[in-house]
Amino acid sequence: MTRRAVVVGTGHYLPKRVVENAEFEKTLDTSDEWIRARSGIERRHFAEEGETTSTMATAAARAALADAGLEADDIDAIVVATSTADLTFPSAATMVQAQLEMTRGFAFDVQAVCAGFVYALCNANALIASGQANRVLVIGAETFSRIMDWTDRSTCVLFGDGAGALILEGQEGAGTNQDRGILATDLNSDGRYKDLLYVDGGVSTQNTGHLRMQGNQVFRHAVEKLAKTANTALERAGLGADEVDWIVPHQANIRIIQGTAKKMGLSMENVVVTVQDHGNTSAASIPLALSVGKERGQIKPGDLIVTEAIGGGLAWGAVVLRW
Ligand code: UT7
Repeated sequence: MTRRAVVVGTGHYLPKRVVENAEFEKTLDTSDEWIRARSGIERRHFAEEGETTSTMATAAARAALADAGLEADDIDAIVVATSTADLTFPSAATMVQAQLEMTRGFAFDVQAVCAGFVYALCNANALIASGQANRVLVIGAETFSRIMDWTDRSTCVLFGDGAGALILEGQEGAGTNQDRGILATDLNSDGRYKDLLYVDGGVSTQNTGHLRMQGNQVFRHAVEKLAKTANTALERAGLGADEVDWIVPHQANIRIIQGTAKKMGLSMENVVVTVQDHGNTSAASIPLALSVGKERGQIKPGDLIVTEAIGGGLAWGAVVLRW
């Protein structure tokens, strides 16, 4: 018997304010046509004043708890993947814990930028497999609109805000790759690529800063590294790409998503795509896509899913799970 981290609930939250590509034409030398053609993005949601990463994370968490039929105090741990926490400290996760009125367990943040949710899933899986927690609320939540340079057309048209949440529960599996739950993971980072995607400020430099990206360089790494990490995780699970029901990729760019599926030998019919409606929501994009994919009726119990992401660091990785 093997203890598996099985998804028992999903939920998401998107701010009400929707901004179409055409909005950017008023202030920048850009066009709806360019943004769609180069990224696949058509619109994104931006947080209202007063909305923060922890409030959006809490809304997604409440939806996931309702979906699982659980109360906050049924949860042992909260892991929030974010690069845009409300405050320098405490963690967004402890703020979610308070907003949920959860009086037990423990909570912490994971910061691996756009790969954050994959890293958070791996952490939750390790907590469950080692018996340190049985039910873990894993959230990806971001307010990237607060770190945009609105004069930089090469970045500010790409990102959006939102939150997605999963509840993972320890369940006994047979120890085969037919079990439900997380079957294999693969994590990587290479700090030599810091300058490709970073925020030019922080606590020890005394300003919040803005996101800076050499988009075409990140693109090159993404196409090369995402299919590789997904295939590595599949190999560890003893599974082939032909057995995958859904790729649920980080939603940064439709061309990266298409390129990765092609490299894995899968058609776009096997990919959950939300980038057109959400833009790049960094660590929130995978849980948003999982929750939306389930709501659309795409993802069903027993489906084999591969999630993969890359972002600032560079940090990248993949998780293979059976829904
Ligand atoms: O989530 C974390 C990981 N991030 C990613 O995965 C993002 C990866 N990168 C990308 O998605 C793409 O590289 C972008 C969508 C950011 C850019 O697409 P691209 O095809 O790589 O374009 P580019 O950066 O090579 O720029 C091509 C041209 C440039 O003009 P010149 O130098 O050819 O005259 C840019 O100045 O497009 C110009 N450009 C724009 N034009 C209109 C850049 N941004 C815009 C814009 N509107 N918003």
